[in-house]
Amino acid sequence: MAPRQWIRELSEKDKVDDVYLVWQKNLLVARNGRPYLNIILGDKSGKLECRVWNMAEKLDSLFSPRDLIRATGQVIRYQDRLQLNAKDIKKADASGVDLSIFIPSSERSMEKMQSELDSIIESLEDPHLKDITKHFLKRSSLSKRFHEASAAKSIHHAWSGGLMEHTLSVCGLMEVIWRHFETLFPGFLNRDLMITGALLHDVGKTWELEKMTFDYTDEGRLLGHLVMMCEAVAEYIRTKPDFPKHLSLHLKHIILSHHGELEHGSPKRPQTAEAWAVHYGDILDARMSWLHQELEDVEEGEWTRYQRQYDRFFWKPPKKNPGVQDSGTEEDGLEQMQAEKQNRDESQKGDEPQEQRETVENEKDENEKDEKQQGLFRE
Ligand SMILES: [Fe+2]
Ligand SMILES: [Fe+2]
Repeated sequence: MAPRQWIRELSEKDKVDDVYLVWQKNLLVARNGRPYLNIILGDKSGKLECRVWNMAEKLDSLFSPRDLIRATGQVIRYQDRLQLNAKDIKKADASGVDLSIFIPSSERSMEKMQSELDSIIESLEDPHLKDITKHFLKRSSLSKRFHEASAAKSIHHAWSGGLMEHTLSVCGLMEVIWRHFETLFPGFLNRDLMITGALLHDVGKTWELEKMTFDYTDEGRLLGHLVMMCEAVAEYIRTKPDFPKHLSLHLKHIILSHHGELEHGSPKRPQTAEAWAVHYGDILDARMSWLHQELEDVEEGEWTRYQRQYDRFFWKPPKKNPGVQDSGTEEDGLEQMQAEKQNRDESQKGDEPQEQRETVENEKDENEKDEKQQGLFRE
């Protein structure tokens, strides 16, 4: 049997013939009227965009997201990214296949992350908040799903275990923020509420996203993880008559407002200091994690692709010797970077097949529409 062709190990011009999981599939039409399939393929090692130009309409009806397909074709470089130009795709038989090789998962040990989570929960002083976090993250059947869940469909921490990583990171930020302001304004911020908010803010994602492809469930699309988690919290608190009303109200508000703005999926904007802190911790972790991942494919001193959701390019600064003369001014350095970028853009443009150039705008709109509707761009 030929060795598996892991996505992460593929290089330009490689011939591919292997089975991958379909994450997304869109039948699109180029400006010249020619239909093509745009597919996001995945395995445990990563994801790869794939295009099929031959018999796109016919092939479109033969498989769906979450299916396994056998793809044959060649790896090309397009807009500085690898892409599979598939000559043929066929639905593969998933029976008896170990599906775990197709799902990306956290590189961190789940056991270690759970023990970190346990000690954060134990650090809570308020018995009611400690009890409710234990209920959702330790006692209920939800805890297993929490381990497997992704933090997002594609924007950040989009792998099994990603929700745990994101939750721990937001808790870490809350600890730092609380300590910082505690020295400036003692007693101003309620640490237990900030930490509980960080622990529970995204638990609703276990119901919002499918386990296999992290695609949205019907409830996820119609209600969203903020409302679903608020409902779950309210339901649990109804069974605890001595749960203080002000804590219940505040915790539900933190969950409902953590996306910050109405247009980003929050039914309410943060209206307490703790809710504001959780919102900023959430957005900071999501963005830093996303950018960290994005810059992994970028050389030092180079720029990312244009990032439409943030309306900018991002630069990966060189660690030393930035390619700018030491004696040069800051303006010289900027001019050189702009000139290099222009050269790069022009040379990339020349490499693009005509039909690909024509479709770029339409396709970006398709891919981003869903995320935008769910308010995840800013999270
Ligand atoms: Fe969220
Ligand atoms: Fe979050």
